[in-house]
Amino acid sequence: MNGETCKTIGGHTCDLDSKENNIEDNRFSLIFSLKEEVGALAKVLRIFEEKDVSLTHIESRPSRLNKDEYQFFINLDNKSTADLNDIVRSLRNNIGATVHELSRNKKKDAVPWFPRTIKDLDVFRKQILSYGEELDSDHPGFTDQVYRARRKEFADIAFNYTHGKPIPRVTYTEQEKKTWGVIFRELKSLYPTHACYEHNHVFPLLEEYCGYNEDQIPQLEDVSNFLQTCSGFRLRPIAGLLSSRDFLTGLAFRVFHSTQYIRHWSKPMYTPEPDVCHELLGHVPLLADPSFAQFSQEIGLASLGAPDEYIDMLSTVYWFTVEFGICKQEGKLKAYGAGLLSSFGELKYCLTEKPEFRTFEPEKTALQKYPITEFQPVYYIAESFEDAKEKIRKFSTTIPRPFSVRYNPYTQSIEVLDNMQQLKNLADCINSEVGILCSALKKLE
Ligand SMILES: [Fe+2]
Repeated sequence: MNGETCKTIGGHTCDLDSKENNIEDNRFSLIFSLKEEVGALAKVLRIFEEKDVSLTHIESRPSRLNKDEYQFFINLDNKSTADLNDIVRSLRNNIGATVHELSRNKKKDAVPWFPRTIKDLDVFRKQILSYGEELDSDHPGFTDQVYRARRKEFADIAFNYTHGKPIPRVTYTEQEKKTWGVIFRELKSLYPTHACYEHNHVFPLLEEYCGYNEDQIPQLEDVSNFLQTCSGFRLRPIAGLLSSRDFLTGLAFRVFHSTQYIRHWSKPMYTPEPDVCHELLGHVPLLADPSFAQFSQEIGLASLGAPDEYIDMLSTVYWFTVEFGICKQEGKLKAYGAGLLSSFGELKYCLTEKPEFRTFEPEKTALQKYPITEFQPVYYIAESFEDAKEKIRKFSTTIPRPFSVRYNPYTQSIEVLDNMQQLKNLADCINSEVGILCSALKKLE
């Protein structure tokens, strides 16, 4: 997505990466990599010929991942899905090619499209389910034209934001700062007794480095920079609601889509949707914790290419952990979910004897129904983030998809581990890390 041009067999040049994001639904497209050797492409073309599938477009460029490979983008005349499955299998098994099927349609046999690089997340800003000033009739700001105009200003910032830019700073109004101040004061008084250790540990750092105090609303850019130094997570402004799939995808890249507006001043203790108080007081402290960050990313990675019904299950798991999770620390229950840590009423309620507590088990938790406008009747308890992470890993192996994925933090991209070359690359990385570990252990002996 850096605008790199590619060589084309047809003679013209174009941006291969932008092709990746503009796949027409009625077309089947593939990207695959081949070793740079005589006859490699001819072997591939023979596979298509044997299946009587016509190529309508083909382009090539040097592979970024492997120095001795070339990458090809092709469009196919999509007549028979069964044949295409055979072709992909043959490319992987017989030719040893790295194959990436590109598809955004809902056909049962297609793996849903997902971004490969962090820059690809830019496509989500135009896929939001609602925009800024569009409020429901029961929203506290529904009849307030000033508030609605303000919401549109925030939405416009997010809509125009692209990866790599600083997040625009906002001058919050006195009324907005006052609303923040009320919430900040009330919640801060509960954190020492109700929030988990990790939240309380990082909160003073947010006060020191990100301007967390009752008089001002911290800027997303400052908070995002701080998070990157703690756990590699970053914030990205979003103009409205994202689909569950797109939101979870962001987590796979350690990107958290965040609102920047604040709830309506008339009801500081209530918001029907996430706002900057929810993000900064609820989510951010935990995202700064490396173990929790890893846990969040695991949910995101599990979602890539998952069928719709599994996205629903992962969203439910996210709801009962990242949003409304409770954990056990030194024999006591503590809140770590952002929905709890940003709600004065529910933070108090969730640790009383009124709700029901169950052990977090992704297979069961994923099927639990929940209300979204009232306090939760059931909470799931995680023994620790490490334990929850292991359980998510196990759960994600039950998701039917023909590959495993891994995030490469150096290239900020997702690697699909579906061929020997990718596995060899991964083995090399692990080998190098194990070498460092052994050397460090020896020095400590
Ligand atoms: Fe949230």
